[in-house]
Amino acid sequence: MKLKIRKYKKTDLDSLYQICLQTGNNGKDATKLYKNKKLIGHIYSAPYAIFEPELCFILSMNSNPCGYILGTKNTIRFQKWLKNKWYFKLQKSYSMPLDEDNSRDANLIRQLYIQQDNREEFKNYPAHLHIDILPNAQRRGYGRKLINAFLKELIYQKVIGVHLIVSKNNINAFNFYQKVGFTNFKFLKESILFYKSL
Ligand SMILES: CC(C)(COP(=O)(O)OP(=O)(O)OC[C@H]1O[C@@H](n2cnc3c(N)ncnc32)[C@H](O)[C@@H]1OP(=O)(O)O)[C@@H](O)C(=O)NCCC(=O)NCCS
Repeated sequence: MKLKIRKYKKTDLDSLYQICLQTGNNGKDATKLYKNKKLIGHIYSAPYAIFEPELCFILSMNSNPCGYILGTKNTIRFQKWLKNKWYFKLQKSYSMPLDEDNSRDANLIRQLYIQQDNREEFKNYPAHLHIDILPNAQRRGYGRKLINAFLKELIYQKVIGVHLIVSKNNINAFNFYQKVGFTNFKFLKESILFYKSL
């Protein structure tokens, strides 16, 4: 088994959707939870790689993508692009669900319409990231390597800080982030916000 980290290529986009879905249930497979298998990737993986491909790194196993790290160096600028371009375009395919529709698909579709969060932390920690690795490549040290590759690129681009948000139910990720140098965090309603100066 040969694991390798490399830069993102446009042909990786389908894999980003797939890996995002397969890790989208607090780190576990979410395939059975959603009718529409692309929605979760529309929000949590694809737009980052399209907007800032230089901040997307792929982990491959025997040349097949099995993980990624991606994000943005400027959350507010990224959110503007999401609203005006990416979500604006997706709204044509996904109409606003009815109020009584509480399905998981509907809750994701609502995110395409909701005004993005603008937290105080974005000032000192403007970048943010997402990392997802399929189970057979986990716990081999590549999560740490992906984080290091991403932070190195942020430092190269003179970014002053980074944050990330993890669900309170994802204990594995919560432990992982602390091990790889994210020592500052605060509890939000249903999630935990980590932040780090660079
Ligand atoms: C969380 C995740 C990115 C970690 O990547 P990984 O490759 O498994 O982690 P690594 O092997 O690089 O581990 C790095 C360090 O974190 C620790 N660690 C990793 N997973 C851990 C866990 N579940 N509990 C405790 N420590 C953990 C390792 O022991 C290692 O510490 P050490 O170097 O001191 O021994 C990966 O498991 C994953 O993608 N999970 C599913 C998707 C997910 O939850 N993503 C995060 C969403 S916010």
